[in-house]
Amino acid sequence: MIPTHEIVIEKVKKSKINTIDFDNLTFGKTFTDHMLECTWSNGAWRTAKIKPYGPIQIEPSCKVFHYGQAIFEGMKAFKDAHGEVFLFRPEDNWLRFNESAKRLAMPEVPKEIFIEGLKNLINLDKEWVRYGEGLSLYLRPFMIASENGVAAAPSTEYKFMIIMSPAFAYYKGDVRVVIASEFSRAANGGVGYAKAAGNYAASFYPNNLAIKEGYQQIIWTDAASHEYLEEAGTMNIFVRIGDTLLTAPHNDRILNGVTRRSVIQMAKDHGIPVEERRVSVKELNEAARNGELKEIFGSGTAAVIVPIKGYKHEEFQYELPVDTDSYATKLIKALKDIQYNRAEDRHGWRVQI
Ligand code: COI
Repeated sequence: MIPTHEIVIEKVKKSKINTIDFDNLTFGKTFTDHMLECTWSNGAWRTAKIKPYGPIQIEPSCKVFHYGQAIFEGMKAFKDAHGEVFLFRPEDNWLRFNESAKRLAMPEVPKEIFIEGLKNLINLDKEWVRYGEGLSLYLRPFMIASENGVAAAPSTEYKFMIIMSPAFAYYKGDVRVVIASEFSRAANGGVGYAKAAGNYAASFYPNNLAIKEGYQQIIWTDAASHEYLEEAGTMNIFVRIGDTLLTAPHNDRILNGVTRRSVIQMAKDHGIPVEERRVSVKELNEAARNGELKEIFGSGTAAVIVPIKGYKHEEFQYELPVDTDSYATKLIKALKDIQYNRAEDRHGWRVQI
């Protein structure tokens, strides 16, 4: 039994599930029957409500529109071959959500609302979690400043919400990246480590320029020197030079990815040498030139593990070698086997609904 705590449930009169084409999903475009909404006002969280998914009424003066005080998380639920549904490391996302909340001067969301709210919501929309390779239910908890008024100060009212979207692959087709040498995603002492909505808004313009050149994403470099690889915005980045897997250490500019941490652990479990250290663009380009650069891949909840096919840095362009026995292939399998309950869960990452 899932405890209901302070969660009030209003069910839809008629589910829309039969109108959904689960074989042709576009990431983040289709939402399930229900959503969760909980308001913070006068210094306390009010009763959480699960209700039919639909528009919410917000005044134009609402602070989120003016100052971008907004954070989110990305999580997934998976169905196994027996129809059981699992979350993947949900507490990690809850903890990170509250780290983001703290940095954006927002109230922390208690576990009973975040985790129990998620469990109740998923339980209600369980049919929307489909079984099949690559299929999942993408979960989007988020919080916005909901006080009306344009004074530039933290809101006195917030809305925490969860919406859910049946998902397939985030990236369709090959992914090639530009390594940033002009624009920056995050700065020292900033909000780069938080899942602040504005981090994503700030990346759209440079990303559009990359797309115009035929690339899908940017690998951001440190703002101070543009010499060191950081992350890709929708993914943390791993590089294989020789037999060693390298990834930038977590710092205040880089998102502390749950999938990133899982990849590091799974790599260690597979006996793959892993180093969390700074990787310079110079080192990357040299490894590419001398044949030591074997793989680059991204990791993230939405993206899962995505091999990067090629990259461009200023005038230098490089296509990664094709390897059917790559680290990425091994790690994708290991991750999915845990998520879909096909393998032993050595680290206690699965949480059954
Ligand atoms: C996720 O992987 O859930 C992310 O946050 C990336 C998102 C911007 C699609």
